[in-house]
Amino acid sequence: MIKVITYGTFDLLHFGHINLLKAAKALGDYLIVGVTSENFDRARGKLLVQQSLAERMEAVKATGLVDEVIVEEYEGQKIDDIKRYGVDIFTVGSDWRGKFDYLSPFCKVVYLSRTEGVSSTDLRSKGHTLSIGVVGASPSLQKFMEESRYTSGIEITDLLPLSGATEGLDLTNVRLCDTYEQLLSRVDAIYLNAPPRMRFAYSKQALEAGVHVLSEPPVALTKQDAETLFALARERGVIFCEGLKTAYSLAFQRMVLLLRGGVIGQVKSVEATCTSMAKAHSPWLFDKNEGGGALIEWGAYTLYAAQQILGRDFADCRFVTMKNEEGLDLYTKLWMLYPDAEATLKVGIGVKSEGEMIISGTKGYIYVPAPWWKTDYFEVRKEDIRDNRKHFYQFEGEGIRYELAEFVKSIRQNSIASLVLPEDSIAIAATVERFLKEDGIFTI
Ligand code: CTP
Repeated sequence: MIKVITYGTFDLLHFGHINLLKAAKALGDYLIVGVTSENFDRARGKLLVQQSLAERMEAVKATGLVDEVIVEEYEGQKIDDIKRYGVDIFTVGSDWRGKFDYLSPFCKVVYLSRTEGVSSTDLRSKGHTLSIGVVGASPSLQKFMEESRYTSGIEITDLLPLSGATEGLDLTNVRLCDTYEQLLSRVDAIYLNAPPRMRFAYSKQALEAGVHVLSEPPVALTKQDAETLFALARERGVIFCEGLKTAYSLAFQRMVLLLRGGVIGQVKSVEATCTSMAKAHSPWLFDKNEGGGALIEWGAYTLYAAQQILGRDFADCRFVTMKNEEGLDLYTKLWMLYPDAEATLKVGIGVKSEGEMIISGTKGYIYVPAPWWKTDYFEVRKEDIRDNRKHFYQFEGEGIRYELAEFVKSIRQNSIASLVLPEDSIAIAATVERFLKEDGIFTI
């Protein structure tokens, strides 16, 4: 009996896939198909797969062409499978020509001709590439534009530079807009990195124009403004979401799940620090009038973490702020009191510290090294060090590609996927508002 194996994502099964499976089956007597798991696809940069693993496996089975369906979950698995199943022929479409020659010591490698004119990518975008406009200033725009290359089905088409800052931006194939109205009339969605004090107005105008918005955090400086934006998005049937990179870090997501499962018992304390000294994110970082300052710049990240771990309902919070002569918040320490726990959050733009996170519980603690807000690693530590565990997850680049992929997925599904929830963003805006109101009370 000749055993044949092939692998693929098989998202939105199409006739290109069917042709491939028919041809693969014809090569032998028994066909095994490895369908890639979500995590494996994510690790290899395929971020916009629409169907779940179960749905894709079911669709492959339903073709009736396949004798066995397995899951592909890790790098190097193909060699293991070939040995384990006694495979004679490995086959794949010609778009992969040469890439799997390394398997030839283990079995015969055959590249089958790929069907022209159809792909899952095209089906996902339904022939329509989302056009995205970016609003803001370098260097954060540059990072965004670079990372957008990893998300299929979108194109950065237009740019409105704020603060006149186009320096260092690669403007190939991007139109420079003179006005915001012009940009909004040309695009399906925007990535917004306007000065914090202007963000609400920019988002509101975009949503009113029926344009989807991915906004830098915080989305607004008051609870009411944040609520208004989400209500407006709902009313207009467009997606509005906060681009909080941490939310899309697999390590962070998994850590929260472990905490909810009680890995360190009851959580009693969250300590998280975020600092940066340079104008790394925006030219207005040090401009109070534009909404610069440590808490506005970094607060959302630490607050999001506290909210995910301890909940949105804290009993009280206190701020200690250190300002420069112009009254700009250079360093703020937030202390959040929960009924049975506390969070100490430190943010700085003029004070440097270790950007780590420590979560303490009744049975141990979790240590996340700097920069915890885009981490690929954390450690669960116990009294008995033999019980310590290290957890690693893939996190590429700045993490923008993941938030962008989720944003695009939400637009295509017309509902928020697994993004930061509106309630999370509203709660963050409420704490920012409180900080701005109470400004001065605990100022040093
Ligand atoms: N395939 C094919 N003809 C097509 C599309 C895919 O022969 N038009 C083959 C691929 O070469 C591969 C298998 O089908 O061997 C599974 O491919 P997959 O990556 O799942 O499909 P794509 O449509 O190429 O997906 P995407 O657009 O997401 O890359």
